Amino acid sequence: MRIAYDLIGSRETGAVAIVDVPEGMDPLKVAEEILRRHPHVKSVLRKAGGREGDYRTRPLELIAGSQDTEVIHKEHGYKLKLDPKLVYFSPREATERQLLSDLVEDGELIFLMFAGVGPYAIAIARRKSVQIVGVEINSIAVRYFQENIKINGLSHKIFPIEGDVSYLAPAMRGRFDRVVMPLPLGAYRFIREALISLKEGGGYVHFYYWGGEDALKQAESLFKREAASFGLEAKSIGFRVVSSYAPRVDKIRIDFFVKPMLVK
Ligand SMILES: C[S@@+](CC[C@H](N)C(=O)[O-])C[C@H]1O[C@@H](n2cnc3c(N)ncnc32)[C@H](O)[C@@H]1O
Repeated sequence: MRIAYDLIGSRETGAVAIVDVPEGMDPLKVAEEILRRHPHVKSVLRKAGGREGDYRTRPLELIAGSQDTEVIHKEHGYKLKLDPKLVYFSPREATERQLLSDLVEDGELIFLMFAGVGPYAIAIARRKSVQIVGVEINSIAVRYFQENIKINGLSHKIFPIEGDVSYLAPAMRGRFDRVVMPLPLGAYRFIREALISLKEGGGYVHFYYWGGEDALKQAESLFKREAASFGLEAKSIGFRVVSSYAPRVDKIRIDFFVKPMLVK
């Protein structure tokens, strides 16, 4: 049986399976097959729609197993407690988190926008000697974020704040060496907030974007135009396809180095 699903959780504490039930297939048969393959799965949830709203959660329907869908997920040596019915989380981005941490330098102060339950902040802080301010608007995600910081012993490095990036960024103006923007479908609405958060001399921004064949061109031009309107020059220094959703739809990351424009 060919079925596509994600497993979130761990062998020790149990996992949930999130499955796209193919049309014409019996959901119960699909669930039985997943439970047979993975005895540590405690709940099988079926995708009942796309990601929606500011919180980027999706409707999930329980088709087998326990109503209790809170799990502790493990990736690259750290743990993340979460309930996928209530918060955004994608286990598919584990590699992206490691690759992003590679780019960070010790000693930096980092602004992690759209922090969710904290996977990016925790992945970076585990490997680098940095301080990270993480902002998240979904109060349930913030609760998990706070707990995950404690579980991983990173309270001295990560500082979670509940709130809206557009209100909080102006209050933290000019402080950061690096800004991370992991909201592919909406980060372009917060470019101004990223730019004003950087230190006066400039810094790095990791900009996530979602689009078709010309996504890279579009994203670069959006970002550079906004930077120029602030008298800043944004140089694109890296690019990665994070994941592909359809033959021509990708989630991408572009790395920018931003500095004040030299006035001739
Ligand atoms: C695509 S999810 C990424 C979450 C997390 N970085 C991860 O990878 O698991 C985007 C997150 O941004 C949060 N969010 C959306 N708009 C926001 C805003 N204006 N201010 C702060 N957080 C926001 C959502 O609640 C959601 O948790």
